[in-house]
Amino acid sequence: MEIDRRAFIASLGGTAAVSMMDSEAKADALEHWMEDQLDAQAAGQGGPEKFPTVAELDAQIETRSFRRGAGNVFTSGNRGGNVKKLAPMPKNPTLQDFFRLRFAPANHVLQSATRALKTGMSEEIILACLLHDCAQAMMKADHGWWGAQLFEPYIPEKSTFGIRYHQALRFYADADAGYEYPDLYYRIFGQDYTPPPHIEATYKMLRNHKWYMEPRLVTVNDLYAFDPNAKVSIDPFEDIIGRHFKTPKEGLGNDNSPSAHMWRTLANPDAPL
Ligand SMILES: [Fe+2]
Ligand SMILES: [Fe+2]
Repeated sequence: MEIDRRAFIASLGGTAAVSMMDSEAKADALEHWMEDQLDAQAAGQGGPEKFPTVAELDAQIETRSFRRGAGNVFTSGNRGGNVKKLAPMPKNPTLQDFFRLRFAPANHVLQSATRALKTGMSEEIILACLLHDCAQAMMKADHGWWGAQLFEPYIPEKSTFGIRYHQALRFYADADAGYEYPDLYYRIFGQDYTPPPHIEATYKMLRNHKWYMEPRLVTVNDLYAFDPNAKVSIDPFEDIIGRHFKTPKEGLGNDNSPSAHMWRTLANPDAPL
């Protein structure tokens, strides 16, 4: 059987993820992958996955009752149906309360931060990994910039930098850092997608920036296929949050910070105005 090496590595989450596996785990993964391919071929779905084009994705816009950029708290997800009533937030909500009541299950960011923790990355990067996609609860479009703005008053500058710019670097492979263009992006942006000018300009700026590796390491840990069965929790990050996240005593949203209104929006997305 012919092995599509790129597809196999991408299925494991890229070369960075593969580099963390011992040889036995790699052999197991290869065996599973080959079995899946054979099953797919037997079912008549062999060959590489066919990704949509930009035009095909555009044609889907008017088939939905929501826009793809809308944050998770505002929609019922891709399956349609009505939204659910949200649990109320405590009086002085903390970051952990938002994780529990608004960002949950937060599996993806917890896995990213867990990987960053295991590979001994700096605490600023671990924190950036933990927070990098949380703003998608509110807004998916340009979520790196929204996320950086949401967290900026409370976290170190390097973490903010990592969160803001991981969004742009996700579109550009960096073999030396162990980051490949993700298959997921062919699926959700289209196989013939090219990033808009502000993303391209940001990438050029970052290539020469002394903090290039901050967002780059967020992308290296930004894995969708790393371990779908991993059990993750926020507990291992309590100390890092304690050291680097300035929790306001009034609670997030009640503290009059430049992003307090964003926390209030997350707390109460049912407010009509
Ligand atoms: Fe992201
Ligand atoms: Fe992510």
